Amino acid sequence: MNPKIGIFGAGWVGLVTGACFAELGHEVVIRDVLAERVEALQAGRVPLHEPGLAELLERNRERLTFTLELDDVVTAPVMFVCVGTPPTYSGDADLSAVWTVVDQLPALEERSILVMKSTVPVGTGEKVRTALDARGLAHVGYASNPEFLAEGSAVHDFMHPDRVVVGAFTEADATTVAGLYEPLETTVVRADVASAEMIKLAANAFLMTRISFINEIANVCEATGADVVTVAEGVGLDHRLGPHFLRAGIGWGGSCFPKDGVALKQLASNSGYHFQLLAAVIEVNELQKRRVIGKLEKHLGKLAGKKVALLGLAFKPNTDDLREAPSLVLASRLLAEGAEVRAWDPVADASRLLQGVTFADSVLDAVADADAAVIVTEWDEVRGLASDEVRQAMRRPLIVDGRNLLDPEQARSAGFTYEGIGRAASPLAALPETEEPAAQQPTP
Ligand SMILES: NC(=O)c1ccc[n+]([C@@H]2O[C@H](COP(=O)([O-])OP(=O)(O)OC[C@H]3O[C@@H](n4cnc5c(N)ncnc54)[C@H](O)[C@@H]3O)[C@@H](O)[C@H]2O)c1
Repeated sequence: MNPKIGIFGAGWVGLVTGACFAELGHEVVIRDVLAERVEALQAGRVPLHEPGLAELLERNRERLTFTLELDDVVTAPVMFVCVGTPPTYSGDADLSAVWTVVDQLPALEERSILVMKSTVPVGTGEKVRTALDARGLAHVGYASNPEFLAEGSAVHDFMHPDRVVVGAFTEADATTVAGLYEPLETTVVRADVASAEMIKLAANAFLMTRISFINEIANVCEATGADVVTVAEGVGLDHRLGPHFLRAGIGWGGSCFPKDGVALKQLASNSGYHFQLLAAVIEVNELQKRRVIGKLEKHLGKLAGKKVALLGLAFKPNTDDLREAPSLVLASRLLAEGAEVRAWDPVADASRLLQGVTFADSVLDAVADADAAVIVTEWDEVRGLASDEVRQAMRRPLIVDGRNLLDPEQARSAGFTYEGIGRAASPLAALPETEEPAAQQPTP
């Protein structure tokens, strides 16, 4: 029989995990501490934008319960911890929500397993084990089962995982947790708890490294006349390297990479090791977000009083997640330079985060009378940006394509001045009405 599953946290990971286990036939109870969130879910509203999730929750309504009550969850023989682990000022992961869950566990009599899906520093499982033992909860098992889903394709990723990682202190607990994934066709990697925790951090760090690597190659391409899209294709066909995460752009953001990268760097540092490569990977990303400013200045001169349309605000398409989105850094830098910023996103609402920015209902509304349009997030709606309609609506036909979404030649032949990332630069002469361009330099 499918065991009942309890879940702490109704965010991206908790909801997707809960909905998917319900789809696999489990009764699932999801607890959150936000009354508003729980009420919305009880009323059939999904508090976040994730393709396929609303349908999955609706289809499995009868097997899913949303609650504020701790007691409803702790009766489950398997309890997943899916609470947030945001960064602290020091860069360490903030584990306060994780510890709240552990500390609030009542004196359970039945045997159960606490399964950590939240991303936590290596050594957390060991500490939780010790705390449970000290509270007379030695019969409560513990397993690390990190989550690798990506927002925007989370439901698919959960149902079709590349692998499932299970680290436990006992064989029996590992077998129980691995058994939950039996209906999915995948490889289960069994590990000790510390290694399971490290697999998640290392995988994220490696993905970030690939992005920063190709972004640096893009920057060198710009300086030397090569084209990074062609370069990435040629590099990615090497079977030892593969094509993934070799798309140059304006850097990563989101709820995971930024905090997990810094947390791993900090974890290493706390353990006496300076993780030099990761430090550089993070710094490259910070600088990359700001390169758009230099590209705009190259064509527009000083940005004070210039109207810039930011197209896309979410950290990637198919999500409304704005956590650490490059758009936030970019908008703030533009405002600091005195530019007027008009932003558009089909789902993300940044009105509370971005004071001083005005928001548009459509791409066309955003670019109206603009001196430049910047593609920040590769939403489908932006793919047709290089159109007559857009060119006529803009004050100057300048596109800075932060995601290399458009075909440069097509954009140029449609009458735009086009700047991508790591692509051959467009001739400055093509742009009418510009002031004397500033020397191109990275803006701090
Ligand atoms: N979002 C992703 O793409 C992703 C992918 C893989 C792993 N992760 C990791 O999974 C964890 C959760 O991420 P998320 O994006 O789902 O976070 P989130 O912020 O979207 O959701 C966390 C939820 O936990 C709730 N919560 C806090 N304390 C609680 C408690 N004591 N009991 C019950 N609920 C509580 C919060 O109210 C919130 O709704 C993080 O550690 C994250 O790093 C996230």
